[in-house]
Amino acid sequence: MDCFVTAPRPSLEKTEKTKPFLSVLDGRKTATPPIWLMRQAGRYLPEYRELRAKSTNFLDFCYSPALAAEVTLQPIRRFGFDAAILFSDILVIPDALGQDVRFEAGEGPRLNPLTTAADIEDLAELSLDRLAPVFETIDRVKGALPAQTAFIGFCGAPWTVASYMIAGRGTPDQAPARLFAYREPDAFQILIDKLVEASIVYLKAQIKAGVEVVQIFDSWAGVLPTAEFERWCALPIAQIIAGVRKDHPDARIIAFPRGATTHLPQFIAHTHPNAIGLDTAVDPAWAAQEIPRETVIQGHLDPLVLLAGGKAQSAAVARILSAYRERGQIFNLGHGILPETPIAHVEALIEQVRSGA
Ligand code: CP3
Repeated sequence: MDCFVTAPRPSLEKTEKTKPFLSVLDGRKTATPPIWLMRQAGRYLPEYRELRAKSTNFLDFCYSPALAAEVTLQPIRRFGFDAAILFSDILVIPDALGQDVRFEAGEGPRLNPLTTAADIEDLAELSLDRLAPVFETIDRVKGALPAQTAFIGFCGAPWTVASYMIAGRGTPDQAPARLFAYREPDAFQILIDKLVEASIVYLKAQIKAGVEVVQIFDSWAGVLPTAEFERWCALPIAQIIAGVRKDHPDARIIAFPRGATTHLPQFIAHTHPNAIGLDTAVDPAWAAQEIPRETVIQGHLDPLVLLAGGKAQSAAVARILSAYRERGQIFNLGHGILPETPIAHVEALIEQVRSGA
């Protein structure tokens, strides 16, 4: 399809040459893979905890451009990662659709659950005004990043965001959303369609504000059987990617359908991301064979091995590096970094990845 053909963007050519992360996404080789970590701005950093203590309300923190920009930059200053990820949360979208979203200390997110088709119909139009501080954060970060550091924006995928909107909280198995989707597929489809539309508008606004790459997080894709995976994960993400590329044909997009396992080849065939985020459980030897060569692989060190450190860590890193030596790779974790992770283990990881061993 034409919308997947990328056109050069002359105004960016100069900076692209100096950003290894963008080079790999654009299909060029780098001596060693670029590296960033999911949740790299967060509680494992003492400087994050110090700033975080200044706001009781996590959403207020996300909507404070000075604080959010500073927290985005902290891991770049400390470690020199190849990409910064915007500091925000996937649940700003339900918030901007008028749902009540709160973060209780130590308990994670709480939303007023959507329990009926009428609740879904009653959601507001996406408020870009509500999200204005996010775009201001992007503007601030853009001007402060080192020349070689790429800038990633993001959103949650419709299925994962819907799972929080229906349950009103995080759940171990997303049972409330799965049940709702089986019992009331038409109403659930309306919710997914609203989230597809909102995500396209939101990602395009992030790109306009200055991010160079966007990642779509489908953290809970792994609980869906094949037919539901197609309908609630792959199809909505394909629509978002096509919708963003309609206005930005050269947009660089990373999809992270966590837990997609055997669905991955089909997922890529439907969605055509520039890179696929793999999770901890995927076998690197399988992925090197089965993921199309033009799709860059991002991942997928076990966050627990980074917490453990030592020989287990260096052996696991070496396995991932060697599996993808012949193709485009971005080094990352298979899910977010854990708050207990020692800083020294992150330093050792970066050193090993940049030594290429
Ligand atoms: O990666 C980054 O450094 C950028 C920031 C970022 C956050 N959340 C900050 C955050 C990103 C990309 C996210 C995405 C996100 N948020 C996801 C998808 C990725 C994943 O981890 O699966 C999901 C499912 C959420 C929803 C969410 N936000 C939960 C379940 C929680 C509570 C659990 C937890 O880790 O605390 C949050 C809160 C949150 N989002 C924190 C951070 C740094 C911790 C809040 C705090 O500091 O008090």
